[in-house]
Amino acid sequence: MLLITDRPEESQKLERLLSLWGPCDVVDLNCPTKAGAAPNRLLISDVDLSSRVAVEAVRDRLASFRRKGTPYLCLLRDQSPRLTTQANAIGASAVLSADLPTKALLDEIGRILAPQDATPVQRHFFAASAAMADMLFAASEGRALPVAAIESSVEAINRAVNDRDLDAWLDLVWSHDDATYQHCLLVAGLAAAFAHALGFPEAARKLVTSAAVLHDIGKARVPLSILHKPGRLTDEELAIVREHPQIGYEMLLRQGSFAGEIVEAARSHHEYLDGSGYPQGLKASEISDVVRMITICDIYAALIERRSYKTPMEPEQAYAMLAGMGAKLDADLLRAFRAVVLPG
Ligand SMILES: [Fe+2]
Ligand SMILES: [Fe+2]
Repeated sequence: MLLITDRPEESQKLERLLSLWGPCDVVDLNCPTKAGAAPNRLLISDVDLSSRVAVEAVRDRLASFRRKGTPYLCLLRDQSPRLTTQANAIGASAVLSADLPTKALLDEIGRILAPQDATPVQRHFFAASAAMADMLFAASEGRALPVAAIESSVEAINRAVNDRDLDAWLDLVWSHDDATYQHCLLVAGLAAAFAHALGFPEAARKLVTSAAVLHDIGKARVPLSILHKPGRLTDEELAIVREHPQIGYEMLLRQGSFAGEIVEAARSHHEYLDGSGYPQGLKASEISDVVRMITICDIYAALIERRSYKTPMEPEQAYAMLAGMGAKLDADLLRAFRAVVLPG
């Protein structure tokens, strides 16, 4: 996937959205172009085409990067007939407004990439990813979190799990190239399946899934250069990452509309029952069941996550690691979690 842009800062959201379908390279029109591999799945431009210079620059990049048959989606900030004609003249296979809501944009891109109808779980996945993108961007910019988007993400995840499609969900999660999205969608899918397996009523399942969707919201304020750093972090970087529970907690508390369990999960999902976790070193009696569930899903997710720089653990091995953590995790819940990740 390749994104051509004349405003790389503002296109960051788009770039992270595109990573839903795998790695995405960015060509900044304001910088000399480095030679790179031509993508064969999709080219997108997010450029102001009202200037002749910009049109020529895009035409030029398309000539070097577009392979025969590769679809090219042109995003326009002003969908006037003149600019739409311009986009078609440089060979756009689709023209859309750059201001399209995230969900609609993802649906359109999904249609371009997979012309056959999306499966129900794919549709749920797009909906949840779009909502997550809106949520993470609002959080990173210090805006209020979009409650309706979060609810639709929770609903989409629960529906996907209802269809007994945890495996199909995981397959989609693996294709996501962005580590934070991959992690949150993974923890949320696991938590929804966990609550389902425990026979929770609908309201409680929603609560657990919401807590999972939001558990790492504080990471939206941690620089991407640290979050996406491959390999080991320095002590200083680690200290910054370890602030995310408190940041997330304050963010959710400030907004005031989230249930207590959700706010608590953001702050306490790195606590252990034996008091050895952080940030507060809470003990068992101070840690609720919802938090205990999220902690189990969170650790398991981190172990099986797929990154370019590490080999993911197999489910059996990851579960054995959790079991080896002894008094840190809730033994009864962990036993029940086995059926979620190692069915049969
Ligand atoms: Fe976390
Ligand atoms: Fe996490």
